[in-house]
Amino acid sequence: MKLNIAVLPGDGIGPEVIAQAVKVLKAIAMEFNHVFTFHNALVGACAIDKSGDPLPEETISICKKADAILFGAIGKTSYDLDPYAKVRPEQGLLKLRKTLDLYANIRPVIAYEDLLTKSSLKKTQIKDTDILIYRELTSGIYFGEKTLSEDGNIASDICEYTRDEVERIAHLAFKAAQSRKRKLTLVDKANVLESSRLWRRVVQELAPQYPDVKLRYMYIDNAAMELIINPKQFDVILTENMFGDILSEEASVIVGSIGLLASASIGKDHAMFEPIHGAYTKAANKGIANPIASILSAAMLLDHFGLDDEAALIREAVDKSLKLHITTPDLNTKYDNITTTKVGDFIEDFINNPDETNLNFTNIHLGQSTII
Ligand code: IPM
Ligand code: MG
Repeated sequence: MKLNIAVLPGDGIGPEVIAQAVKVLKAIAMEFNHVFTFHNALVGACAIDKSGDPLPEETISICKKADAILFGAIGKTSYDLDPYAKVRPEQGLLKLRKTLDLYANIRPVIAYEDLLTKSSLKKTQIKDTDILIYRELTSGIYFGEKTLSEDGNIASDICEYTRDEVERIAHLAFKAAQSRKRKLTLVDKANVLESSRLWRRVVQELAPQYPDVKLRYMYIDNAAMELIINPKQFDVILTENMFGDILSEEASVIVGSIGLLASASIGKDHAMFEPIHGAYTKAANKGIANPIASILSAAMLLDHFGLDDEAALIREAVDKSLKLHITTPDLNTKYDNITTTKVGDFIEDFINNPDETNLNFTNIHLGQSTII
């Protein structure tokens, strides 16, 4: 298969982790005889530095022409500390999601057997957790009208949803549930918010089209607690933009590190794949950033094109790296010298030679490999 992939590394740790994902995709292309071409473009603080615009026209055009987009992270401490900044790196990502109409953000939360002890939650509580979060990505409070009074003392952000916006992502979530444990939880705040009541009405109306899916509702405050107390009760979670942002980051506690959570942002004509973590500026260029979320986002990119064996091989390589403690310091208690690049090298190496008898793995196991 020929794929033209736009690569937007962004800021902070974005470039280091995305470099590993690209390396892994190149290994896959080689192994399976695909032709993947990569086109880099600027977004976020680095784009503001260069052109004053967090999403330059050239970036939009590269993304529109691409079959898929691989996105790293955006943000910079100087903007975080300046609530008066008129232009912000995040505007680049939000505008990109909106321009390409990437309305469904899909975030898998899987508790890896080998990482159960890394979570601050109890092992018995999180074992076998397998949740798929469907977060609406192009509407709601993120994109509603914003106001600030002239004296700077009153501000507002409108949370608005249309029936169509709810319907299209709800259909995807119902279908996803059909292919899994057939449980769908709509998370909202329908006891307070009119927009949440619209979500409930629309989802309730669609439910008869999916009679095999067990639908239930949960308020966001309650869901935030239930996700920690008993994450195994969830299969597919459907929710609006901001609740999904918060809930998915909370869910990373179950997995052991936010550096593991990947996502796919899907629209009718475009698809983007991005780790859910941010730019983590203070970790940039230290070799400590976990590239697995980006590498698993690359696997989701392959899923999107039906390249199932390819995606499975990446996941197998990731599992192996976790099993052998070839991971960055956020997860590693065994070795203290595994860098971002070394994790990428190991996964690339596994893809090139997944044979268990590969001497390199034996050596790694013994802690004697050149990789280590
Ligand atoms: C995410 C991020 C973004 C969001 C930020 C960087 C704008 O937190 O993708 O989860 O809030 O959507
Ligand atoms: Mg977030």
